[in-house]
Amino acid sequence: MVKQADFAVEQYMDKYETGIKFNLGETCCHSMTIQEVSNLARVGASDSLVSGIINSRMTYGHIRGSPELKSIISEQIYEGTGLTQDNIIITNGAIGANFLTFYTIVDKEDHIVVVDPSYQQLSSVPEMFGGNVELLKLKFEDKYLPDLKQLRETVTKNKTKLVVINNPHNPTGVVWGNDILEEIVDICRENDCYIFCDEVYRPLYHSVEKAPSSILSFGYEKAISTSSVSKAFSFAGLRLGWIATNDSKLRERFFSKRDYNMISISLIDDKIATFILTHHKKILERNYQLCKDNLDTIQKFIDLSNGKLEWVRPQGGATCFIKVNVKGSKSTMEIGSELAEIHSVLVVPGEVFNHPGFIRVGFGNSKKEIEEGFPIILKYLDSL
Ligand SMILES: Cc1ncc(COP(=O)(O)O)c(C=O)c1O
Repeated sequence: MVKQADFAVEQYMDKYETGIKFNLGETCCHSMTIQEVSNLARVGASDSLVSGIINSRMTYGHIRGSPELKSIISEQIYEGTGLTQDNIIITNGAIGANFLTFYTIVDKEDHIVVVDPSYQQLSSVPEMFGGNVELLKLKFEDKYLPDLKQLRETVTKNKTKLVVINNPHNPTGVVWGNDILEEIVDICRENDCYIFCDEVYRPLYHSVEKAPSSILSFGYEKAISTSSVSKAFSFAGLRLGWIATNDSKLRERFFSKRDYNMISISLIDDKIATFILTHHKKILERNYQLCKDNLDTIQKFIDLSNGKLEWVRPQGGATCFIKVNVKGSKSTMEIGSELAEIHSVLVVPGEVFNHPGFIRVGFGNSKKEIEEGFPIILKYLDSL
């Protein structure tokens, strides 16, 4: 049987998420109803969507995803990349997209370079398939920007198969600009390896002067992007994601692997996703404002913390990684557990990302929980 590491962040969230009063662990922008999207977009109560669903015969639908959904993704979400609907592989969430990418590409002993810290799936799944994972470490002191000289030394021709990054980045919220992405693509091109960017938080570029492009925009065929409607578009409950790539041979290999565990996604989810992505600009406007307001609120509490909390203020995404400077023997794991169990405030301890000394806070969620949760965190830290 394939050996599999426990997925620490998912297990931590599962332990505390329901039942908690102040959920600062959530990584999605505050979830929405279909009715709210209809109201934002000023389209009549989504009648045609409802009637489209209740009058649809429940076949498997389009095995590869409906042309309507795939063309909105290729033409609008990847605008300017030259992608067509044929380049989109629909999956169950970005988690399904990431898994399928590794399942298709990684063979035993392959050298895989993965950004660290990261969403654990990005390093544990390639390991599960026998890959040798080497970490590209990001540091607080470097504002979580990558050491490209080191990456150049790490990536090796005929050895490295895949470089895995995540932009905007979970847990730090750092955004790497086009200059960095371009250089990473160049390194991969020179070494003939795949570059895979988990873009599930794209296009949450609410706090940058210039939004970077998708990894597919740099003219390299072996580039892969994954994403979903969960984070930037507030519809995690649909469990709908995708892989996008210009590499047509690889695309067929993705579909062939997918045949054994998907057939198709739910026809209902396909229709709802098509509807919400049609109105994605309105959703993004709402979520940009939400993220910016919440970042300002968190900044206020960090300033009030007398140095107990420190951060590299995020420029994108919906998560930040806050450094906790408290004297004494309590680890951030203990701090996280006490905050959750005694004070009903959920933050994710850095230990879950193999980076003790930090807590991850989601800032795309409801303003109220952030405004009410942070004073409790500060009071608790003062009591230590
Ligand atoms: C970086 C990253 N990739 C993928 C996922 C999975 O997202 P989805 O809900 O689309 O499956 C997450 C969820 O937290 C994530 O943070």
